[in-house]
Amino acid sequence: MSPPDPLLAWRAEFPILGRSTYLVSNSLGAMPRGVPDRLAEYVDAWAEHGVRAWARGWWSMPGQVGDLIAPLLGAGPGEVVMQPNVTQAQAIVLSAVRYPAGRNRIVMTALDFPSVRYVFDALATRLGAEVVVVESEDGIGIDEDRLCAAIDERTALVCVSHVLFKSAHIVDVARVTRHAHAAGALVSLDAFHSVGVMPVDVRAIGADFLTGGVLKWLCGGPGGCFLYAAPEVTATLEPSLTGWMAHARPFGFEPAMEYAEGAYRWLGGTPAIPAMFAAMEGPRIVAAAGIEAIRAKSMRQTSRLVDLADARGFAVHAPRDPVRRGGTVALDVPHAYEVAQSLLDRNILVDFRPGAGIRIAPHFYTRDEELEDAVAAIDEILATGAWTRHTGRSPVVT
Ligand SMILES: Cc1ncc(COP(=O)(O)O)c(C=O)c1O
Repeated sequence: MSPPDPLLAWRAEFPILGRSTYLVSNSLGAMPRGVPDRLAEYVDAWAEHGVRAWARGWWSMPGQVGDLIAPLLGAGPGEVVMQPNVTQAQAIVLSAVRYPAGRNRIVMTALDFPSVRYVFDALATRLGAEVVVVESEDGIGIDEDRLCAAIDERTALVCVSHVLFKSAHIVDVARVTRHAHAAGALVSLDAFHSVGVMPVDVRAIGADFLTGGVLKWLCGGPGGCFLYAAPEVTATLEPSLTGWMAHARPFGFEPAMEYAEGAYRWLGGTPAIPAMFAAMEGPRIVAAAGIEAIRAKSMRQTSRLVDLADARGFAVHAPRDPVRRGGTVALDVPHAYEVAQSLLDRNILVDFRPGAGIRIAPHFYTRDEELEDAVAAIDEILATGAWTRHTGRSPVVT
């Protein structure tokens, strides 16, 4: 008999867990049952106070919700502001850095999330920058020796993922940051797949910027992303992708920009208020559950998944060493897309990524039996040919 798992007590906070096998928190975390009340607060304030709701708290939400999340990434009060999405937050970082001749390179990796690459590739040339992409040898990890070798006195910015989205490989970002700083470059981390499922200490890492979102591991819903900027960079850099919320006196409606002193200088236009109401519950629960306990359980359960896959001969598209593995295990089984759809038919919620397979993401509220059931279902779907009813359909994002 395995010892009782105190984290399972949190299941009661997430209604969908009673109705499905929810193994997709790497895409969209389960909704806490307190969210409807938070959204009702938003609706009530709008209905009751109308435009006065802005002055009764809405204007300060990008910073207040940022302060709530800040401890989960090791940041201090006033260092994190909310953003609508990570792509835009990283674009704001890109727009703040200078790219003079001779120091105009941006170093990224081939396994970073494509959306961030799209905006960097599209804007870099116009800003006089050049994107340098470090390839992966095995499609799972990024070799830090190679990554560091690509960072030199020509590098202005290093923009890499903390945990790679397809394989969950953890990049040694502290080492990369030390190397980048020694070369005089800034570092911006995409921590979407680390914050909420493992301890993150941005100050210990030393990164200049860090972005993430609440919708996956923090169970806070879409629209609640965040940007941390180290106080030194906030004091010296001015993003050109900006807006009136970043002005020192937004309500002065002055013709010329004067950037706010603190983290508000990283904002743009009117903030997405409902998303921030929804965003508050999940991070509160994750913090209360305890990130060390969440990481310990995640390592145990992802190891269990690897063992279950090995026992059946399924290819594992994830690091073998749990210390280098984030919260997801991708199983590259035959007909992975169709099998993933068949799992959804059985109310086992997972997703599929091309080149990686079926991503299975246990979280602190996952029972061990749910992992056994999911892998047994894959076996059964393959053995019975149930997957064939999904052939010929184009991949969809779940
Ligand atoms: C690592 C990573 N970065 C960026 C993104 C894109 O984020 P957004 O849609 O908030 O721009 C994702 C989305 O899944 C992601 O996994």
